[in-house]
Amino acid sequence: MRLEGKVALITGAARGQGRSHALTLAREGARVVLADICQDYPTIPYPLGTEEQLATTTRMVREAGGEALAVRCDVSSAADVEQAVQQALSEFGRLDILVANASVNAISPCIEIEEAQWDAMMDVNLKGVWLSCKYAARPMIEQRYGKIVTTSSTLGVKVQPNLAHYIASKHGVIGLTRALAVELAPYNINVNTVMPGMINTDMTKSLSAPIAESLGKSVDDFYADFVSDFHAFKGARAEIVPQDISDAILFLVSDESRQITGHALAVDSGMLVAR
Ligand SMILES: NC(=O)c1ccc[n+]([C@@H]2O[C@H](COP(=O)([O-])OP(=O)(O)OC[C@H]3O[C@@H](n4cnc5c(N)ncnc54)[C@H](O)[C@@H]3O)[C@@H](O)[C@H]2O)c1
Repeated sequence: MRLEGKVALITGAARGQGRSHALTLAREGARVVLADICQDYPTIPYPLGTEEQLATTTRMVREAGGEALAVRCDVSSAADVEQAVQQALSEFGRLDILVANASVNAISPCIEIEEAQWDAMMDVNLKGVWLSCKYAARPMIEQRYGKIVTTSSTLGVKVQPNLAHYIASKHGVIGLTRALAVELAPYNINVNTVMPGMINTDMTKSLSAPIAESLGKSVDDFYADFVSDFHAFKGARAEIVPQDISDAILFLVSDESRQITGHALAVDSGMLVAR
């Protein structure tokens, strides 16, 4: 119970990695505030998390013996984020941990990206992380204690075609994280980011489905081939699962990492070193 007495806000908690982070922090004793947009986002070409999925995460935390509060929150809206933080404070009295995990994605050649889709990517993936940090940091500053973990990507430091807006936003998350680490250090707040490699969540499945189909493969075979080509670890050992990212985040929000701030931690099965 490394996080007993702590309160954590996790954005994008309805499904995927966010759900895994919520369960992992709750199992360590944190009371969790689970935020998700619970509706689709204009110009993003796949369904986002739903109210039912957010309710499922909430139920799973409670069944595991934890305390959870679900809030509908679009991280690209300052009013929504401020309200989510207020709800955390009214329900649990403090806020110690932020996991700024929510994001959207889309595939498009850079010369064809619609302006509205570029804006969506920046609004959710970059401005949404800044807003989450801005409002979560205020009570942390008062407490003189806080742990913030943002979610970038291996695409925060490397590139591949047809994802320029996503890549720009994830590079931006690393810069933002480093800037905040310096500004918030005087208040005993650590700010770090994780860079997941490819994980077969709903986001990845939705985006890779048309590519897999064009190659005559199932989505799962496409994923298996990708990781075996690109990862340092091979075979079953190559698969990255949400729990791998949650474990890194648990380390970054625990006191074992007290001297780590402004760091970008790749959880990528060795992809950045192998390619
Ligand atoms: N899946 C991968 O391969 C991969 C790789 C590297 C980084 N990442 C990053 O990991 C994080 C989690 O991704 P995932 O794979 O679990 O994706 P996912 O699409 O399964 O989950 C993302 C969640 O964020 C929510 N969300 C989206 N926009 C939101 C908004 N405006 N406000 C609040 N919630 C919003 C969605 O509803 C969804 O529940 C993201 O930051 C993603 O960019 C994913």
